[in-house]
Amino acid sequence: MNQHNLMVNGIELACHTAGEGLPLVLIHGFPFDHTMWAPQIETLSSRCQVIAPDLRGYGASKMGTTDSSDGVDMATYAQDVAAWLDEFEVREPVILCGFSMGGYILWQFAKRHPERIRALILCDTRTVADSPEASAGRRKMAESIEDTGVEPVVEGLVPKLLATDTLANRPEIVQQVSEMIRQASPAAIASAQRGMAAREDVSAELDSFDWPALVVVGEEDAISPAEEMRGIAKSLPQGQFCEIAGAGHMTALENPVAVNDAMQRFIELV
Ligand code: MLT
Repeated sequence: MNQHNLMVNGIELACHTAGEGLPLVLIHGFPFDHTMWAPQIETLSSRCQVIAPDLRGYGASKMGTTDSSDGVDMATYAQDVAAWLDEFEVREPVILCGFSMGGYILWQFAKRHPERIRALILCDTRTVADSPEASAGRRKMAESIEDTGVEPVVEGLVPKLLATDTLANRPEIVQQVSEMIRQASPAAIASAQRGMAAREDVSAELDSFDWPALVVVGEEDAISPAEEMRGIAKSLPQGQFCEIAGAGHMTALENPVAVNDAMQRFIELV
């Protein structure tokens, strides 16, 4: 894997690439970084040019002059992803894959750059906007995190991210997910929370996302429930649904064999 650190949209951002072939862009979720895709990068780079950015403020990417009190909206992250494709001179349409917040970003990317898309992979994500309570909760975290630090985020989030069996019997996954959260800066967390709190609802627009689309979800996902994702797959003109056993929200890490298998089969056909 190669790490690229470049000035992109005026900020020093990092992106990781591996392999050659069909371009496959992997957009991570909140509050993680590209390492959540390690099993997919390893396997899918045998067939694809994998492009896995660290979103601004996460992993090896800086925040630049981004002001966390404004938040970063999903369209801004999407424009950073598009700028990476320009940097790598990727001209052919890509397979765009987004996990959770990465999915919220994917919708915005697809609306702005439809000509750059060949197919979509939606992992454990949603189309609806936040309820007023959820959005208030995000803003509260954004306001308090500079004082509290990230540890309360680890404690509050990890039990919701993983399946019961993962939490009880797979300490290495619990550790990996907790450490990824600990690496995230309070400013990056506050920015993304404010951005997600204000994100738009794209549910009524799903029929306009007319590309081959694989919808993947862990059977125990507590954040983007399997039934909700089944509905997304049905509403997408070319949606295919794949429920993954033995996984909560962090499906790509909890059951990488099944996720890689589903993605590989999908990629062969698009
Ligand atoms: C994520 O995994 O990106 C988050 O759970 C998304 C969210 O908080 O809505």
